[in-house]
Amino acid sequence: MSDKKPVIVYGASGYTGRLVCEYLRELHVPFIAAGRDRARVQAVMDKIPGIETADYEVATVEHSVKALAGLFDGAKVVSNMVGPFSKYGPEVAEACLAAGCHYTDTTGEQDWVLDAKTRWGHKFAAKGLLLSPGIAQMYTTGEIAANICLETPGVDTLDILVLWKGFPTYASTQTIFAILQAKWYYLEQNKYVEWAQNTHFDVNVPGQHVHALVTPWAGTSHPVWFKDDPRVANCKALGGVFAREVMEGFVATQKMFEEQIKPLPPDQQQAALANIAASIQAGMPPRENPRVNVSLDSVYASGPLARVHCVIHGVSNYKQTGLLQAHAAYSLLQSPPKKAGFASACQAFGHRELLGVLKSFGLVRDPIVTAHC
Ligand SMILES: NC(=O)c1ccc[n+]([C@@H]2O[C@H](COP(=O)([O-])OP(=O)(O)OC[C@H]3O[C@@H](n4cnc5c(N)ncnc54)[C@H](OP(=O)(O)O)[C@@H]3O)[C@@H](O)[C@H]2O)c1
Repeated sequence: MSDKKPVIVYGASGYTGRLVCEYLRELHVPFIAAGRDRARVQAVMDKIPGIETADYEVATVEHSVKALAGLFDGAKVVSNMVGPFSKYGPEVAEACLAAGCHYTDTTGEQDWVLDAKTRWGHKFAAKGLLLSPGIAQMYTTGEIAANICLETPGVDTLDILVLWKGFPTYASTQTIFAILQAKWYYLEQNKYVEWAQNTHFDVNVPGQHVHALVTPWAGTSHPVWFKDDPRVANCKALGGVFAREVMEGFVATQKMFEEQIKPLPPDQQQAALANIAASIQAGMPPRENPRVNVSLDSVYASGPLARVHCVIHGVSNYKQTGLLQAHAAYSLLQSPPKKAGFASACQAFGHRELLGVLKSFGLVRDPIVTAHC
């Protein structure tokens, strides 16, 4: 029997990787905290309160399929925190497949979710392995709300809103800019339809009087997750952060991208966007404070003769993400996923189970469900 620790957190030196490690410790799961720089990973681990009670090792690894597969060999689950995933994800997915590990990440990039499904979904399924990009507050918490709505027979249309209050990390900011290069899709009568450029809306936010400015936010993962769900024909998702000035900046950047950056060759586009992102976010954001960092996931579900609305209020977007990743790993060490191959968090673990996990750690409150709205 291999003495390899069963879970690898790749990108453990990052803001979210650290939180995954914190929750793995609380769940008593042995893990390897891996990254490209041992000193940086160790320095982050050393800051985790109670880390001396965790069963863990630190490993350095180069970002190549061969080196990653070597590290993953003998482990069972890889929690990948190195984003943007459309840029860095392929090597990690390939290495998981080679080493026979389940793959999870935290992506909010619709293009990566589509790519992962098409390129590796059937290969992971053939090995009984889970390929689950996007186990994270954006968009698993909204997926839980959508599935609660879908418990009502007769709904076939999902209108989803996700908002959070906080400071994006370095990789999150890089990701927000990287998604400008992608095509964004929603689902209409079960077909992908591209969002028009620079689409944005003022929306009602349940529980407050002031509207919020939101965008399709790269399309979100929902249209991809619900594409093969026979209950759902139409799915549109919108989101962003609560801070209006940040969203106004995002809308202005979208416009600038269309006019000034899109005419450039793709590699120059990527470099220009990465430079803008780096100039906006250089340091690590502060640790979340539940009195400040709140999240809201709202889903209106409708059908010809059925209507239901579900709202989930939560706190600490990044902590929700860390816990969801750690729980996924914990669960996969004990039993196979409900669905192998490409699957969302709710398809792999069940929405009621994930809701219970988030509630039990004090990160979301009971969903507010209103029927016949
Ligand atoms: N959907 C959601 O709700 C949600 C929530 C949280 C995070 N995320 C996503 O998760 C990703 C990570 O976020 P984060 O908050 O942890 O960001 P972060 O604090 O910037 O950490 C990024 C991690 O990736 C590593 N990394 C970056 N470039 C690398 C490369 N070329 N090779 C190897 N490692 C590299 C970094 O290592 P170094 O320390 O060595 O630089 C660090 O460990 C982002 O894409 C973010 O959008 C999504």
